[in-house]
Amino acid sequence: MNTVIWIALPYLCLVVFVGGHIWRWRHDQFGWTTHTSQLLENRILRLGSPLFHLGAFGAIGGHAMGLLVPASVTAWLGVPEHLYHLVAVWAGTVTGVMLVAGFVLLVARRVVNRRVRRKTTPMDRVLYAALAVMIGLGMAATVVVNLFGPGYDYRETVAVWFRGVFLFSPRSDLMTGAPLVYQLHAVGGFLLLALWPFTRLVHVWSAPLAYLWRPYVVYRTRQGPVPPAQPSPAAVRKRGISA
Ligand code: HEM
Repeated sequence: MNTVIWIALPYLCLVVFVGGHIWRWRHDQFGWTTHTSQLLENRILRLGSPLFHLGAFGAIGGHAMGLLVPASVTAWLGVPEHLYHLVAVWAGTVTGVMLVAGFVLLVARRVVNRRVRRKTTPMDRVLYAALAVMIGLGMAATVVVNLFGPGYDYRETVAVWFRGVFLFSPRSDLMTGAPLVYQLHAVGGFLLLALWPFTRLVHVWSAPLAYLWRPYVVYRTRQGPVPPAQPSPAAVRKRGISA
């Protein structure tokens, strides 16, 4: 059973993740969007969306640091373990709180606003439920176990297993002894990857990053008097025929 959960399942999810994106791209390019509802409701979205996305960027950075950078590397860089731990827990808590606040606002507007509620698809509901579970488990691990609780050094177990998946040598024994909340969070992470291509999360790969580097579009006010309006091409054609 351990082999199925900690070795087979992650690979199955990764195959669905890649295959699902190829399928979605070939069959639903017009549906490959955020499906924004900004025109239906903008007041709560204006606050909820930046909070959620900033929190998500922070959490992604934290996961990259905690899961991809081995403890030996931070030790070699001279970062004391307790300092790493302190920064990780507090940064994780702050970004996590932003993520939770943004997420609550985004879900609330789907509940309270009738027009946004009607635009919410069954797949959106599945995605929001999955995100709620994942964020809840992650916060429980960071805040309940590591900030206020007994603490758990996931860098020696969860992180090593996680890297092992991508290095084709995952060690299931490292996960079997982890606290349940870490186990559920890690399995949930891979299940979310399998769900990803079938949801609006695909918009992540189409973020308009080019906007950051494109030249400015310059608007200038017109100098001098406004010239008389030009006749439309249709009016010119009509005049030509009647002349
Ligand atoms: C397989 C994938 C994943 C693994 C192995 C993983 C692992 C972890 C670990 C080890 C922590 C730190 C817990 C602590 O501080 O003690 C954490 C925290 C957290 N995770 Fe994940 N995670 C994964 C995917 C995700 C996903 C997909 C989400 C959100 C949708 C998420 C949301 C969070 C949140 C909100 C926290 C707490 C705040 C933070 O530290 O950023 N995780 N996760």
